[in-house]
Amino acid sequence: MIEQQIKAAIRDIPDFPKPGIVFKDITPILKDPLLCEKIVDAFAEKLSTTPIDVIAGVESRGFLFGLSLACKLGVPFIPVRKAGKLPYTIKQRAYKLEYGTAIIEMHIDAFEPGQHVLIHDDLLATGGTVTAASELIHEMGGIVSGFAFVVGLGFLNGKERIAPISDNIIVLAD
Ligand code: PRP
Ligand code: ADE
Repeated sequence: MIEQQIKAAIRDIPDFPKPGIVFKDITPILKDPLLCEKIVDAFAEKLSTTPIDVIAGVESRGFLFGLSLACKLGVPFIPVRKAGKLPYTIKQRAYKLEYGTAIIEMHIDAFEPGQHVLIHDDLLATGGTVTAASELIHEMGGIVSGFAFVVGLGFLNGKERIAPISDNIIVLAD
């Protein structure tokens, strides 16, 4: 039900940001507050048995539902940001995207060693972004307890790539 609603709301934009890429535009979802609420509720239900001390959301679209979900679950939210945005001492990782390269960073005091971190992003494509986030979290002593995405691009095999990190992978619309 929610899967169909998400798929119906997403708008495909051919050749953005580069020729050959079909961009999944989630902004129509954001215009539907009832659907946004259902998405957060669906994540909360599916994560009910997952140990979560903090939720890490990846800039920028991982912030949209990440903070709402963290508030719903009563846990802190950590922004995983693109290079040069975080003001305090950081650790960073470079990674490849479906359409380019990027660097992500986290504050060194984002969480305590030994804490369980749930990684959230809007979309799972190649898995490069959340793999880089996982590497950073591991380097900082955290335990990745799972991944939560609104949508997945199955043909890019992101799930297979991230399963060795944690096989607790939630994709609401796959
Ligand atoms: C998009 C998306 C994910 C990532 C998925 O972010 O929001 O973070 O790509 O791709 P991957 O699984 O191949 O790593 P993007 O870097 O375009 O940034 P944005 O959220 O700021 O638009
Ligand atoms: N991130 C990586 N690939 C993407 C795509 N095709 N649409 C939207 N976000 C993306």
